[in-house]
Amino acid sequence: MLKLPGLIDPHVHIREPGATHKEDWDTATQAALAGGFTTILAMPNTIPPTFDRKTLDLGLASAKEKARCDYAQFLGAGPNNADWDAYPDLPPRAAGLKMYLDSTFGELRLDDMTLWMQHFATFPKHLPIVLHAESRTMAAGILLAEIYDRPVHIAHLSLKEEILVVKAAKEKGIKVTCEVTPHHLFLTGGEGKVRVRPRLTAQKDVDALWDNLEVIDCFATDHAPHTLKEKDSTKSPPGFPGLETALPLLLTALHQSRLTIDDIIEKMYVNPKRIFNLPDQPERWIEVDENASYEIRAADQFTKCGWTPFEGWQVKGRVRRVVLRGKDVYKDGEILAEKGYGLDIRE
Ligand code: DOR
Ligand code: ZN
Repeated sequence: MLKLPGLIDPHVHIREPGATHKEDWDTATQAALAGGFTTILAMPNTIPPTFDRKTLDLGLASAKEKARCDYAQFLGAGPNNADWDAYPDLPPRAAGLKMYLDSTFGELRLDDMTLWMQHFATFPKHLPIVLHAESRTMAAGILLAEIYDRPVHIAHLSLKEEILVVKAAKEKGIKVTCEVTPHHLFLTGGEGKVRVRPRLTAQKDVDALWDNLEVIDCFATDHAPHTLKEKDSTKSPPGFPGLETALPLLLTALHQSRLTIDDIIEKMYVNPKRIFNLPDQPERWIEVDENASYEIRAADQFTKCGWTPFEGWQVKGRVRRVVLRGKDVYKDGEILAEKGYGLDIRE
Protein backbone atom coordinates (compact mmCIF):
# COMPACT_ATOMS: atom_id res chain seq x y z
CA MET A 1 0.00 0.00 0.00
CA LEU A 2 1.34 3.39 -1.05
CA LYS A 3 0.67 6.31 1.30
CA LEU A 4 0.36 9.77 -0.29
CA PRO A 5 -0.74 13.19 0.98
CA GLY A 6 -4.43 14.07 0.42
CA LEU A 7 -4.42 15.46 -3.12
CA ILE A 8 -5.38 19.02 -4.09
CA ASP A 9 -7.26 19.73 -7.33
CA PRO A 10 -7.07 23.44 -8.17
CA HIS A 11 -9.57 23.27 -11.05
CA VAL A 12 -13.08 21.81 -10.58
CA HIS A 13 -16.47 22.86 -12.01
CA ILE A 14 -19.14 22.07 -9.42
CA ARG A 15 -22.28 23.33 -11.34
CA GLU A 16 -24.00 24.59 -8.21
CA PRO A 17 -25.76 26.98 -8.37
CA GLY A 18 -27.50 26.76 -11.72
CA ALA A 19 -26.93 23.33 -13.26
CA THR A 20 -27.26 20.80 -10.47
CA HIS A 21 -28.63 18.20 -12.90
CA LYS A 22 -24.98 17.90 -14.08
CA GLU A 23 -23.31 17.94 -10.61
CA ASP A 24 -23.66 19.59 -7.22
CA TRP A 25 -21.48 20.15 -4.16
CA ASP A 26 -22.47 16.76 -2.77
CA THR A 27 -21.71 14.61 -5.83
CA ALA A 28 -18.61 16.58 -6.88
CA THR A 29 -17.02 16.20 -3.45
CA GLN A 30 -17.89 12.50 -3.33
CA ALA A 31 -16.14 12.12 -6.69
CA ALA A 32 -13.19 14.08 -5.29
CA LEU A 33 -12.79 11.79 -2.27
CA ALA A 34 -13.11 8.66 -4.43
CA GLY A 35 -10.34 10.09 -6.62
CA GLY A 36 -8.00 10.75 -3.67
CA PHE A 37 -8.56 14.54 -3.45
CA THR A 38 -9.14 16.08 -0.03
CA THR A 39 -9.21 19.71 -1.25
CA ILE A 40 -10.77 21.14 -4.41
CA LEU A 41 -10.89 24.68 -5.76
CA ALA A 42 -14.19 25.51 -7.47
CA MET A 43 -14.45 27.54 -10.67
CA PRO A 44 -16.80 30.56 -10.93
CA ASN A 45 -18.64 29.83 -14.23
CA THR A 46 -21.76 28.89 -12.31
CA ILE A 47 -25.23 30.24 -13.14
CA PRO A 48 -25.23 33.04 -12.10
CA PRO A 49 -21.45 33.44 -12.34
CA THR A 50 -19.65 33.90 -9.02
CA PHE A 51 -18.25 37.42 -9.17
CA ASP A 52 -19.55 39.50 -6.25
CA ARG A 53 -20.64 39.29 -2.62
CA LYS A 54 -24.12 38.01 -3.36
CA THR A 55 -23.05 35.23 -5.71
CA LEU A 56 -20.06 34.23 -3.57
CA ASP A 57 -22.35 33.94 -0.53
CA LEU A 58 -24.80 31.88 -2.58
CA GLY A 59 -22.22 29.31 -3.74
CA LEU A 60 -20.51 29.08 -0.36
CA ALA A 61 -23.84 28.47 1.40
CA SER A 62 -24.46 25.36 -0.74
CA ALA A 63 -20.87 24.23 -0.20
CA LYS A 64 -21.14 24.59 3.56
CA GLU A 65 -24.26 22.47 3.61
CA LYS A 66 -23.14 19.74 1.21
CA ALA A 67 -19.37 19.48 0.73
CA ARG A 68 -17.72 16.26 1.95
CA CYS A 69 -14.13 17.38 1.28
CA ASP A 70 -12.39 20.73 1.87
CA TYR A 71 -12.75 23.48 -0.69
CA ALA A 72 -12.45 27.10 -1.73
CA GLN A 73 -14.40 29.03 -4.37
CA PHE A 74 -12.87 31.20 -7.12
CA LEU A 75 -14.23 34.64 -8.00
CA GLY A 76 -14.67 35.36 -11.71
CA ALA A 77 -13.31 38.46 -13.45
CA GLY A 78 -16.12 40.40 -15.09
CA PRO A 79 -16.65 43.82 -16.66
CA ASN A 80 -18.22 45.29 -13.50
CA ASN A 81 -15.90 44.06 -10.75
CA ALA A 82 -12.48 45.10 -12.08
CA ASP A 83 -11.74 47.50 -9.20
CA TRP A 84 -10.96 45.11 -6.35
CA ASP A 85 -9.94 48.02 -4.09
CA ALA A 86 -13.66 48.67 -3.78
CA TYR A 87 -14.31 45.27 -2.17
CA PRO A 88 -11.23 44.52 -0.04
CA ASP A 89 -12.99 41.84 2.03
CA LEU A 90 -13.95 39.62 -0.95
CA PRO A 91 -10.63 38.33 -2.40
CA PRO A 92 -9.39 36.84 0.91
CA ARG A 93 -12.60 34.75 1.05
CA ALA A 94 -11.89 33.25 -2.39
CA ALA A 95 -9.48 30.67 -3.80
CA GLY A 96 -8.30 33.40 -6.19
CA LEU A 97 -9.46 35.23 -9.32
CA LYS A 98 -10.29 33.30 -12.50
CA MET A 99 -10.12 35.25 -15.77
CA TYR A 100 -11.64 33.76 -18.91
CA LEU A 101 -9.79 35.40 -21.79
CA ASP A 102 -10.75 32.83 -24.43
CA SER A 103 -14.03 31.20 -25.33
CA THR A 104 -15.40 28.58 -23.00
CA PHE A 105 -18.60 27.28 -21.37
CA GLY A 106 -20.55 30.07 -19.61
CA GLU A 107 -20.73 33.85 -19.76
CA LEU A 108 -17.55 35.02 -18.11
CA ARG A 109 -15.42 35.68 -21.20
CA LEU A 110 -13.61 39.02 -20.97
CA ASP A 111 -12.42 40.54 -24.26
CA ASP A 112 -11.44 44.09 -23.33
CA MET A 113 -7.72 44.19 -22.51
CA THR A 114 -8.11 47.41 -20.47
CA LEU A 115 -10.32 45.37 -18.10
CA TRP A 116 -7.61 42.70 -17.87
CA MET A 117 -5.23 45.46 -16.81
CA GLN A 118 -7.53 46.71 -14.06
CA HIS A 119 -7.97 43.22 -12.65
CA PHE A 120 -4.21 42.64 -12.71
CA ALA A 121 -3.58 46.02 -11.06
CA THR A 122 -6.08 45.66 -8.20
CA PHE A 123 -6.48 41.96 -7.28
CA PRO A 124 -4.26 41.36 -4.18
CA LYS A 125 -0.84 40.05 -5.17
CA HIS A 126 -0.63 37.33 -2.55
CA LEU A 127 -3.75 35.67 -4.00
CA PRO A 128 -3.49 33.87 -7.32
CA ILE A 129 -4.89 35.01 -10.66
CA VAL A 130 -5.68 32.01 -12.87
CA LEU A 131 -6.03 32.50 -16.62
CA HIS A 132 -8.03 30.55 -19.13
CA ALA A 133 -5.89 31.88 -21.97
CA GLU A 134 -4.73 29.91 -24.96
CA SER A 135 -1.85 30.41 -27.37
CA ARG A 136 -1.17 34.13 -28.04
CA THR A 137 -3.70 35.19 -25.42
CA MET A 138 -1.64 33.23 -22.90
CA ALA A 139 1.50 35.09 -23.95
CA ALA A 140 -0.36 38.41 -23.50
CA GLY A 141 -1.45 37.31 -20.00
CA ILE A 142 2.14 36.48 -19.05
CA LEU A 143 3.24 39.92 -20.26
CA LEU A 144 0.66 41.54 -17.94
CA ALA A 145 1.97 39.47 -15.01
CA GLU A 146 5.42 40.89 -15.72
CA ILE A 147 4.15 44.47 -16.12
CA TYR A 148 2.17 44.35 -12.88
CA ASP A 149 4.87 42.29 -11.13
CA ARG A 150 2.50 39.66 -9.80
CA PRO A 151 2.12 35.87 -10.04
CA VAL A 152 -0.16 34.34 -12.63
CA HIS A 153 -1.21 30.70 -13.06
CA ILE A 154 -2.08 29.33 -16.51
CA ALA A 155 -4.97 26.86 -16.45
CA HIS A 156 -5.00 23.68 -18.56
CA LEU A 157 -2.04 24.39 -20.80
CA SER A 158 -2.21 22.06 -23.81
CA LEU A 159 -0.07 23.15 -26.78
CA LYS A 160 3.61 22.69 -27.53
CA GLU A 161 3.97 26.43 -28.18
CA GLU A 162 2.37 27.17 -24.79
CA ILE A 163 4.68 24.96 -22.75
CA LEU A 164 7.70 26.39 -24.58
CA VAL A 165 6.61 29.98 -23.89
CA VAL A 166 5.98 29.19 -20.19
CA LYS A 167 9.39 27.51 -19.99
CA ALA A 168 11.09 30.55 -21.51
CA ALA A 169 9.14 32.93 -19.23
CA LYS A 170 10.18 30.94 -16.14
CA GLU A 171 13.80 31.05 -17.29
CA LYS A 172 13.49 34.85 -17.39
CA GLY A 173 12.22 34.86 -13.81
CA ILE A 174 8.63 35.84 -14.63
CA LYS A 175 6.24 34.67 -11.89
CA VAL A 176 4.25 32.22 -13.99
CA THR A 177 3.05 28.73 -13.03
CA CYS A 178 0.91 26.30 -14.99
CA GLU A 179 -1.24 23.21 -14.82
CA VAL A 180 -1.98 20.41 -17.30
CA THR A 181 -5.02 18.10 -17.29
CA PRO A 182 -4.85 14.32 -17.58
CA HIS A 183 -7.02 14.48 -20.73
CA HIS A 184 -4.42 16.63 -22.47
CA LEU A 185 -1.72 14.15 -21.39
CA PHE A 186 -3.54 10.99 -22.46
CA LEU A 187 -5.89 11.87 -25.35
CA THR A 188 -5.50 13.46 -28.78
CA GLY A 189 -7.80 15.12 -31.34
CA GLY A 190 -11.53 15.14 -31.84
CA GLU A 191 -14.76 17.09 -31.38
CA GLY A 192 -18.35 15.83 -30.85
CA LYS A 193 -18.62 13.96 -27.57
CA VAL A 194 -14.94 14.57 -26.87
CA ARG A 195 -15.43 18.33 -27.27
CA VAL A 196 -13.47 20.19 -24.59
CA ARG A 197 -11.83 23.59 -24.17
CA PRO A 198 -8.92 23.84 -24.68
CA ARG A 199 -9.38 21.30 -27.48
CA LEU A 200 -7.68 17.93 -27.46
CA THR A 201 -4.47 18.41 -29.42
CA ALA A 202 -2.12 16.63 -31.83
CA GLN A 203 0.43 14.00 -30.79
CA LYS A 204 3.29 16.52 -31.11
CA ASP A 205 1.62 18.68 -28.44
CA VAL A 206 1.04 15.72 -26.12
CA ASP A 207 4.68 14.70 -26.60
CA ALA A 208 5.86 18.23 -25.78
CA LEU A 209 3.95 18.15 -22.47
CA TRP A 210 5.56 14.81 -21.49
CA ASP A 211 8.98 16.05 -22.64
CA ASN A 212 8.68 19.14 -20.44
CA LEU A 213 7.19 17.63 -17.27
CA GLU A 214 9.55 19.74 -15.16
CA VAL A 215 7.85 22.91 -16.47
CA ILE A 216 4.39 21.68 -15.34
CA ASP A 217 3.64 22.83 -11.78
CA CYS A 218 0.31 21.04 -11.25
CA PHE A 219 -1.88 18.29 -12.62
CA ALA A 220 -5.43 19.66 -12.45
CA THR A 221 -8.51 17.77 -13.60
CA ASP A 222 -10.65 20.62 -15.00
CA HIS A 223 -13.50 18.32 -13.91
CA ALA A 224 -16.29 19.78 -16.10
CA PRO A 225 -19.30 17.46 -15.95
CA HIS A 226 -22.08 17.57 -18.53
CA THR A 227 -24.63 14.75 -18.70
CA LEU A 228 -24.24 11.91 -21.16
CA LYS A 229 -27.42 13.07 -22.92
CA GLU A 230 -26.00 16.58 -23.34
CA LYS A 231 -22.65 15.23 -24.55
CA ASP A 232 -24.34 12.96 -27.09
CA SER A 233 -26.44 15.81 -28.52
CA THR A 234 -25.50 17.70 -31.68
CA LYS A 235 -24.60 20.76 -29.56
CA SER A 236 -22.30 18.87 -27.22
CA PRO A 237 -21.12 21.27 -24.47
CA PRO A 238 -17.34 21.23 -23.91
CA GLY A 239 -15.92 19.46 -20.87
CA PHE A 240 -15.00 16.12 -19.27
CA PRO A 241 -15.39 14.72 -15.77
CA GLY A 242 -11.94 13.98 -14.33
CA LEU A 243 -11.86 13.70 -10.54
CA GLU A 244 -12.12 9.91 -10.40
CA THR A 245 -9.76 9.09 -13.26
CA ALA A 246 -6.81 11.48 -12.75
CA LEU A 247 -4.83 9.55 -10.14
CA PRO A 248 -5.34 6.05 -11.63
CA LEU A 249 -4.25 7.32 -15.06
CA LEU A 250 -1.15 8.95 -13.58
CA LEU A 251 -0.34 5.86 -11.46
CA THR A 252 -0.59 3.78 -14.63
CA ALA A 253 1.92 6.15 -16.25
CA LEU A 254 4.08 5.67 -13.15
CA HIS A 255 4.09 1.90 -13.79
CA GLN A 256 5.19 2.62 -17.35
CA SER A 257 8.05 4.81 -15.97
CA ARG A 258 6.70 7.88 -17.76
CA LEU A 259 6.92 9.87 -14.51
CA THR A 260 7.97 9.37 -10.88
CA ILE A 261 6.04 9.21 -7.62
CA ASP A 262 7.71 12.50 -6.66
CA ASP A 263 6.22 14.09 -9.80
CA ILE A 264 2.77 13.03 -8.61
CA ILE A 265 3.30 14.32 -5.05
CA GLU A 266 4.78 17.61 -6.24
CA LYS A 267 2.17 18.36 -8.89
CA MET A 268 -0.88 17.14 -6.96
CA TYR A 269 0.01 18.33 -3.46
CA VAL A 270 3.19 20.36 -2.87
CA ASN A 271 2.90 22.85 -5.75
CA PRO A 272 -0.87 23.50 -5.64
CA LYS A 273 -0.59 24.03 -1.88
CA ARG A 274 2.16 26.61 -2.40
CA ILE A 275 0.72 28.37 -5.47
CA PHE A 276 -2.77 28.72 -3.98
CA ASN A 277 -1.54 29.54 -0.52
CA LEU A 278 -3.42 26.69 1.18
CA PRO A 279 -3.09 26.00 4.91
CA ASP A 280 -1.44 22.97 6.48
CA GLN A 281 -3.95 20.31 7.35
CA PRO A 282 -2.67 17.60 9.63
CA GLU A 283 -3.98 14.02 9.66
CA ARG A 284 -4.84 13.81 5.99
CA TRP A 285 -3.53 11.15 3.70
CA ILE A 286 -4.60 8.59 1.13
CA GLU A 287 -3.71 4.92 0.70
CA VAL A 288 -3.37 3.50 -2.77
CA ASP A 289 -3.04 -0.12 -3.89
CA GLU A 290 -0.38 0.40 -6.55
CA ASN A 291 -0.82 -3.02 -8.08
CA ALA A 292 -4.61 -3.24 -8.31
CA SER A 293 -5.62 -3.34 -11.99
CA TYR A 294 -9.13 -2.44 -13.03
CA GLU A 295 -11.21 -1.06 -15.85
CA ILE A 296 -12.56 2.50 -15.74
CA ARG A 297 -16.37 2.44 -15.93
CA ALA A 298 -18.73 5.40 -15.68
CA ALA A 299 -21.18 3.14 -13.87
CA ASP A 300 -18.74 2.91 -10.92
CA GLN A 301 -18.29 6.68 -10.53
CA PHE A 302 -19.78 9.09 -7.99
CA THR A 303 -20.02 12.04 -10.41
CA LYS A 304 -23.60 12.69 -11.49
CA CYS A 305 -22.74 13.17 -15.17
CA GLY A 306 -22.83 9.47 -16.07
CA TRP A 307 -19.92 9.15 -18.50
CA THR A 308 -16.14 9.38 -18.83
CA PRO A 309 -13.91 9.81 -21.89
CA PHE A 310 -11.79 6.98 -20.45
CA GLU A 311 -14.55 4.33 -20.45
CA GLY A 312 -13.02 0.85 -20.76
CA TRP A 313 -9.42 1.96 -20.12
CA GLN A 314 -7.40 -0.53 -18.10
CA VAL A 315 -5.56 1.23 -15.25
CA LYS A 316 -3.25 0.11 -12.46
CA GLY A 317 -3.51 1.82 -9.07
CA ARG A 318 -6.66 2.08 -6.94
CA VAL A 319 -7.49 4.49 -4.11
CA ARG A 320 -8.36 2.34 -1.08
CA ARG A 321 -8.62 4.75 1.82
CA VAL A 322 -8.83 8.53 2.30
CA VAL A 323 -8.31 10.18 5.69
CA LEU A 324 -9.25 13.81 6.32
CA ARG A 325 -8.72 15.46 9.73
CA GLY A 326 -8.15 12.08 11.26
CA LYS A 327 -11.40 10.55 10.02
CA ASP A 328 -11.86 7.87 7.36
CA VAL A 329 -13.81 9.71 4.66
CA TYR A 330 -13.56 7.05 1.92
CA LYS A 331 -12.84 3.34 2.12
CA ASP A 332 -13.01 0.65 -0.57
CA GLY A 333 -15.68 2.24 -2.72
CA GLU A 334 -17.71 3.77 0.08
CA ILE A 335 -18.01 7.45 1.00
CA LEU A 336 -17.86 7.76 4.78
CA ALA A 337 -17.84 11.56 5.20
CA GLU A 338 -21.16 13.19 5.94
CA LYS A 339 -22.53 16.09 3.91
CA GLY A 340 -21.08 19.26 5.41
CA TYR A 341 -17.90 17.58 6.75
CA GLY A 342 -15.85 19.59 4.22
CA LEU A 343 -14.48 22.95 5.37
CA ASP A 344 -13.96 26.22 3.51
CA ILE A 345 -10.17 26.55 3.70
CA ARG A 346 -10.40 30.37 3.40
CA GLU A 347 -12.79 30.76 6.32
O1 DOR B 1 -14.24 22.23 -21.71
C1 DOR B 1 -14.44 23.09 -20.87
N1 DOR B 1 -15.50 23.01 -20.04
N2 DOR B 1 -13.61 24.13 -20.77
C2 DOR B 1 -13.86 25.19 -19.98
O2 DOR B 1 -13.10 26.11 -19.94
C3 DOR B 1 -15.10 25.23 -19.16
C4 DOR B 1 -15.61 23.88 -18.93
C5 DOR B 1 -17.01 23.85 -18.42
O3 DOR B 1 -17.32 24.60 -17.47
O4 DOR B 1 -17.81 23.04 -18.89
ZN1 ZN C 1 -12.24 24.74 -16.40
